[in-house]
Amino acid sequence: MQQISPPEVVIYRRPAQLLTLAGPAKARAGAAMSDLGIEHGFSVVTRGEKIVWLGPDSKLDVNTLGTDAQVRELDCRGQVLMPALCDSHTHLVWGGHRLDELELRLRGADYEEIFAAGGGILSSVRQTRGVTDEQLYAQSLARVRRMQQTGTTTFEIKSGYGLDLQTELRQLRVAKQLREQAGVRTVATCLAAHAIPAEFRGSQQKRDAFIAGVCEEILPAVAAEQLATYCDVFCDRGAFTPDEARRVFARGQQLGLKPRVHANEFGHTGGALLAAQLGAASADHLLYLNADERAALKQAGVIATLLPGTSTVLGKPFADGRALVEAGVPVAVATDCNPGSCAFESLAMVVGLSCYGNRLTPGEAICAATHNAACSLGLHNQVGRIAPGLDADLLLLGTDDYRDLVYHTGSPLVDTTISRGRRL
Ligand code: NIG
Ligand code: FE
Repeated sequence: MQQISPPEVVIYRRPAQLLTLAGPAKARAGAAMSDLGIEHGFSVVTRGEKIVWLGPDSKLDVNTLGTDAQVRELDCRGQVLMPALCDSHTHLVWGGHRLDELELRLRGADYEEIFAAGGGILSSVRQTRGVTDEQLYAQSLARVRRMQQTGTTTFEIKSGYGLDLQTELRQLRVAKQLREQAGVRTVATCLAAHAIPAEFRGSQQKRDAFIAGVCEEILPAVAAEQLATYCDVFCDRGAFTPDEARRVFARGQQLGLKPRVHANEFGHTGGALLAAQLGAASADHLLYLNADERAALKQAGVIATLLPGTSTVLGKPFADGRALVEAGVPVAVATDCNPGSCAFESLAMVVGLSCYGNRLTPGEAICAATHNAACSLGLHNQVGRIAPGLDADLLLLGTDDYRDLVYHTGSPLVDTTISRGRRL
């Protein structure tokens, strides 16, 4: 008879700071964002993939852990133990690169002009259509591995470099393959409405034909194969108008795909207000946002996802994170990892940028990149906090104060990333 070994029990003993993020499993706003539920003198116990216990180390009774279990103890003194990072906005499945475009932009070329001229996103579309499935998977997995090293264990992944049925499906199947073959927690979003492809530019009739294809061909196929949970639209100048976006989201909702919106990156272009009207899971970018738009997001309970890496790379203004927190809007922070506007992979570093660029405090930024990000993906009962029953997705930092993540932005402070109990 085959022996099934019991899951390994790990005791993380007495970290200098334990960031539990204890509290309700809903997105945090305002002052609640800076309460990280910090405990001292605590230990945490995981069994297999789950967190099973936490409390004062003096109360830990190893005899209750089960005699069958193989118990391993880690002395975490001098370290921070916190939830692993959750990257709630990436486009990490793409083919090729845009290194030449990076140089052009650094020499003064404008991102929107390159895009309008058929480069930018459309260059990545051509390259993504041109790689094999194996290449697409291998290139994406390499990125995921680097992102895990810097502390991320949960990845939202958008399509949008296919813009045709086959390639959109291929991108989303890679997201599924990362989940099923590589054991990576991925949540997929269909962003077929990322750009109007070259062959559909020139008239409203052609644009409408593309949007009809998204609604009647791509989204139904994605839903039928259960390849995505969410639907996204790049609703901005040079991409899709709010009316066009509304059509795509309405069809997505009919098919069970919940909306998240690329909004207000280039101006007050209607995306944020549309996200509020739809009660979207998230409104992302938000470089241009006035008090009325903030109030609408708060009223609708939409999470505002800030992407300060993109502002950095494109030399654009930073979204006003401080104003969002003060307005009571729950804020998340993500990388936007994509081949053009920001290929940053380290969410730990982007947490630092969200403080210097968006004016979040270190505590708010940690909440934004863990629990609030998990809430925006509907994963609030799996990741983002340290509590019994949640997945053992944890980070050990090589410092005794979590604020060093911001103080020393970009330094390799993540000693160990743990994903579903497995040290990576
Ligand atoms: O979120 N803004 C739209 N889409 C991506 C950029 C994609 C690209 O440049 O390839 C973003 O920044
Ligand atoms: Fe994006």
